[in-house]
Amino acid sequence: MSIIDKWRELQAPLREEIMYGVFHKNSVLELGCGKGELASEIYQKNPNIRYIGVDLDPRLVEDARKNLSDYNHRLFVADASTFRMPGNQTVDAVVSLLLMFPLNIDFYGVGKLKNKFHETAYNALSKQGRYIFGTSSQNLEDELLDSGFGVMCTTPIRYAGVFTGHIYDCEKI
Ligand SMILES: C[S@@+](CC[C@H](N)C(=O)[O-])C[C@H]1O[C@@H](n2cnc3c(N)ncnc32)[C@H](O)[C@@H]1O
Repeated sequence: MSIIDKWRELQAPLREEIMYGVFHKNSVLELGCGKGELASEIYQKNPNIRYIGVDLDPRLVEDARKNLSDYNHRLFVADASTFRMPGNQTVDAVVSLLLMFPLNIDFYGVGKLKNKFHETAYNALSKQGRYIFGTSSQNLEDELLDSGFGVMCTTPIRYAGVFTGHIYDCEKI
């Protein structure tokens, strides 16, 4: 199995959880959308969803444009820590697997920007919008609460018996 296949296998439970949270929504913003792989899965479940994806890497955003060409999407090359929705539009879900790395490896060095991502999510969300956030850090309840979110559910993720992170499923309060 290639590293990419292993990575996908590791993320499978996270993706399932995200899918469950967004498949019935009208709109979703993804912070760190990469090539649009999660977006493709979201579209398979909900082809009519309005999807907005943001990623720092222009090459990945270009790939995402190609991969999602059949769907109604908007993609931005931008830093998720400072991104704001154009025209102050809102979405009813924000998802991010940005910080989800095995064994606490913060590959992109974005751990310190977590609060900024929460701020971006808070600004983009409509009232009672859902924020689903995957991270290898633990105990983020306090910082999510400080950012204006109620944590509805925290799911520990394990891969081959090893703890790899949590999914926080939050509501804007
Ligand atoms: C682990 S990948 C996840 C990709 C996608 N969410 C998925 O699951 O298919 C993390 C992505 O976050 C992007 N990224 C890292 N730091 C970022 C930042 N500050 N703002 C926007 N995107 C960022 C990377 O370029 C990469 O595409």
